[in-house]
Amino acid sequence: MKGIILAGGKGTRLHPLTIVTSKQLLPVYDKPMVYYPLSMLMLAGIREVLVISTPEDLPSFRRLLRDGSQWGMKFSYAEQDQPRGLADAFRVGKDFVGSDPVCLILGDNIFFGHGLPAVLRSMAARVSNGGGAAIFAYPVQDPWRYGVIEFDSEGKALSLEEKPANPRSNYAVPGMYFYDNQVIQIAAELKPSPRGELEITDVNLTYMRLGKLFVQELGRGVAWLDAGTHESLLQAAAFIQTVEERQGMMISSPEEIAFRMGFIDREQLRRLLDELGNSTYRSRLETLLK
Ligand code: G1P
Repeated sequence: MKGIILAGGKGTRLHPLTIVTSKQLLPVYDKPMVYYPLSMLMLAGIREVLVISTPEDLPSFRRLLRDGSQWGMKFSYAEQDQPRGLADAFRVGKDFVGSDPVCLILGDNIFFGHGLPAVLRSMAARVSNGGGAAIFAYPVQDPWRYGVIEFDSEGKALSLEEKPANPRSNYAVPGMYFYDNQVIQIAAELKPSPRGELEITDVNLTYMRLGKLFVQELGRGVAWLDAGTHESLLQAAAFIQTVEERQGMMISSPEEIAFRMGFIDREQLRRLLDELGNSTYRSRLETLLK
């Protein structure tokens, strides 16, 4: 399975923070925001990742993430010149995806929780082996801001609406989606919604009508954080800081995950430390080597 991180958009809800930098490169406590979704793909066992961003911001992503080999990964980059909606990722990424299944994650979605790596691997395995699509459902108090889903006890999707005025459930659909290769064709045939975007919800509705949309509930033991406003960005940072300082461990460090997953060895990790200055990020990684 391949991975796509969509890190485009103008980030207008975060102005003036995002006038000269990409939202997905802003700090969330001790690391750039994009490290969090990247870590989710790595934990799902995905090694080949396409980063999509604006022509202005793409060079910064390249400088930060490079070709990926430092973390045992392979990164590609593609421009999205206009924000045409989330499903545009599969038009921009068509050649990259080729004939493989693919996981799309939004560059500003942060997940953390016990047992999450196993859930990610099972979602990837389900779609790679059985086809169809698999998405998450997460209870929120403001479902009207998201895609809203109803599902049965077997994980079968029953209804799905984008930002409904009267939500039929309090389950939002987080920005991480697993698809078989049919998604390329579905996205190619999609028409823009009334707000002028290629909606990921319309992609998911196509799978739902085919009876191929599996829904995995993320329970209260998992945090799904949004970092798209000044308030939620600060809250996300405080959350990460609280847990990291208490445990002395890191959340969503690509270096640590690469090491633990066996993508890089001890010697490679040691070399990475030298690039990390005198930061606490470095000292937390150093404890891994002991
Ligand atoms: C998008 C999707 C929505 C999803 C959300 C998750 O919303 O359209 O279905 O629930 O991401 O972050 P947007 O960020 O475009 O408002």
